[in-house]
Amino acid sequence: MKYDFSGRLKKEFPSQIGVDVTEKCNYACIHCPHATFKESDYYTSALLDVALHNKMVDEVREYGKGHTQQIRYTANGEPLLHPKIYEMLTYAGNYSDNFVSLTTNGSPLTEKNVKKLIDANIDMIDISLDAHHSDTYDIVRVGGKLSKVKENVLNLIDYRNEIKSKLKIVVSFVKQKENENEVEDFDKFWKEKGVDFVIIRNLHTAGGAIQENITLPEHFKRKPCVYPWERIILNSKGQLGFCPTDWTGESEIIDYRKTTIKELWDSEYYRSLRQMHLDDNFSACHICKKCKDWVNTSWPQEKNGRGYGDLISDFRKKTGSKVNAYEQ
Ligand SMILES: C[S@@+](CC[C@H](N)C(=O)[O-])C[C@H]1O[C@@H](n2cnc3c(N)ncnc32)[C@H](O)[C@@H]1O
Ligand code: SF4
Ligand code: SF4
Repeated sequence: MKYDFSGRLKKEFPSQIGVDVTEKCNYACIHCPHATFKESDYYTSALLDVALHNKMVDEVREYGKGHTQQIRYTANGEPLLHPKIYEMLTYAGNYSDNFVSLTTNGSPLTEKNVKKLIDANIDMIDISLDAHHSDTYDIVRVGGKLSKVKENVLNLIDYRNEIKSKLKIVVSFVKQKENENEVEDFDKFWKEKGVDFVIIRNLHTAGGAIQENITLPEHFKRKPCVYPWERIILNSKGQLGFCPTDWTGESEIIDYRKTTIKELWDSEYYRSLRQMHLDDNFSACHICKKCKDWVNTSWPQEKNGRGYGDLISDFRKKTGSKVNAYEQ
């Protein structure tokens, strides 16, 4: 198989821009590296600078048309805790000329915030729930309350329907031993309530930090990870990086104040990163060397080769109710 730019993967500009707006979180989910990250020297409780964020939106508007599938707001923490999050989402919703999505734990989505979110004119919200029953939620999503978050999501669905907003509502579930027997009930419940998609995801290793999350076959042949051909991440410290599952800063490349996304995407750095993946030689890339998350990434030419960005074309075509294929 030839691994190169094709299908959704564009040479001209990244098909996905990830935006990690903050490092702060109000939860301590058991599958998430946040608790460990919070104790590390790399943690600074950073908040993305709004002007730098707007620079990214302006670049996507200028260069992303026909290339970028989405700007995805998330965090190494909870994005809705950024005090300027609605201002940033509104700027992206109105000026990026692109599909804008938000991934959140849903806890800050009070009635007032639901209105601000809808007014931001974004296209999709993805609420991470990971459980159908409260006792499971208490174990997995430590610090949260399922009844409250459920109420928030149901209010959001009602309000979205009432005002006929374009917002797509997705709920997600990271499958692990504590919750795997609830997948079917979860899927049925939320589809009946009117969400547009239910995403069931597998655990990742957070760039190799939690090795036990993925078991590879003994004599596996490694394939290139799709991310160096697919995405750039702008993190809350203002750094551009190549990996969405990194919590240690090892995939940071350069300060966004010193460059542009367009320049970085076609840089020597990216070309050599891609070559390392093609050559299966990671002596110069510690994080990719120890990581196993490439195994769950999908190339467009693979059977079931669908990425998170494909959700959007599926929304447009009104197909794709089988959601388990979408990775990070
Ligand atoms: C890091 S969180 C940030 C956004 C927000 N705090 C939330 O929970 O949605 C983004 C997504 O990563 C998922 N996640 C965290 N750790 C993971 C892991 N080890 N494997 C798979 N997904 C993980 C979360 O469940 C969530 O859906
Ligand atoms: S999954 Fe999200 S809500 Fe849970 S600890 Fe990680 S960042 Fe926080
Ligand atoms: S191989 Fe792992 S660390 Fe490298 S880009 Fe892919 S997911 Fe990130």
